[in-house]
Amino acid sequence: MPRSPAATSALPLLLLLVRALALASARPPPGPDYLRRSWLRLLVEGEGCAPCRLEECAAPRGCLAGRVRDACGCCWECANLEGQLCDLDPSAHFYGRCGEQLECRLDAGGDLSRGEVPEPLCACRSQRPLCGSDGRTYAQICRLQEAAGAQPDANLTVAHPGPCESEPQIVSQPHDVWNVTGQDVIFGCEVFAYPMASIEWRKDGMDIQLPGDDPHISVQFRGGPQRFQVTGWLQIQALRPSDEGTYRCFARNALGQVEAPASLTVLTPDQLNSTGIPQLWSLNVLREEETESQEGEDYY
Ligand SMILES: *[C@@H]1O[C@H](CO)[C@@H](O)[C@H](O)[C@H]1NC(C)=O
Ligand SMILES: *[C@@H]1O[C@H](CO)[C@@H](O)[C@H](O)[C@H]1NC(C)=O
Ligand SMILES: *[C@@H]1O[C@H](CO)[C@@H](O)[C@H](O)[C@H]1NC(C)=O
Repeated sequence: MPRSPAATSALPLLLLLVRALALASARPPPGPDYLRRSWLRLLVEGEGCAPCRLEECAAPRGCLAGRVRDACGCCWECANLEGQLCDLDPSAHFYGRCGEQLECRLDAGGDLSRGEVPEPLCACRSQRPLCGSDGRTYAQICRLQEAAGAQPDANLTVAHPGPCESEPQIVSQPHDVWNVTGQDVIFGCEVFAYPMASIEWRKDGMDIQLPGDDPHISVQFRGGPQRFQVTGWLQIQALRPSDEGTYRCFARNALGQVEAPASLTVLTPDQLNSTGIPQLWSLNVLREEETESQEGEDYY
């Protein structure tokens, strides 16, 4: 019986497909480096561990979390970083091992109620801040190790536990603002310092620390939002034209002082109208619509 042309041409195609599949399974799929390594590990393990010949090992480079031995306990390979997947079972060697100062933990941060499966991730053993030999503060030892791994020539080490003592640094400075008379404005100033800083506000050309005795001005101060930070606010209520000027946030501790200026522009409604700023036109339109709908409920 003669074969149909379709069947004859399908046979080599099928063979090609089978070969392509075989090739694909022998090669690690593309993806992040550590996932590629995971698949390579599976392949190597499938063949069992050969006698260890260190001279045949590839030298891993740029290992930010340090180096660990491979699944066969032979060659060095890069350890997994904080936040990367890892094997909860120490005898498994799929995702790989976490670096020094890290441990493999089930991540409870995910939204389990939405059916997310907790993943084992490398997490830092310590959450204590440290001062590096480069004079920078690191949130914890794992951050310092990553920095050290990224620049091996810098010989970065731990100078002492706790943050580096430093003069204040302004993390978020007050922004220039403008508004119309009668409105309120707020300036904010976020400062990192160790020892902790104090914040004060002054207006250029005035000799006093705000708020002084002005009931329209108030000053607030609280810790945070991050560790070793403080935040200060200056609020000016019911703006008057005389409030216009430059305000400065001063942050001070035993090691020094920094300042950040911000200007306040106060417009009268007439001045505002003559600028013709579209955003405020729409604001006026909104106000008019409000009054209209209040006046005539039966308008519709
Ligand atoms: C780091 O240490 C090495 C060896 O001790 C030294 O040769 C090199 O100059 C050091 N680098 C820095 C930036 O201090
Ligand atoms: C002016 O102040 C009001 C509140 O007092 C605020 O809603 C508005 O966004 C401010 N306008 C500008 C341009 O900052
Ligand atoms: C703004 O200007 C327009 C015309 O330029 C005028 O009709 C309107 O009444 C003014 N509004 C205010 C609040 O002054």
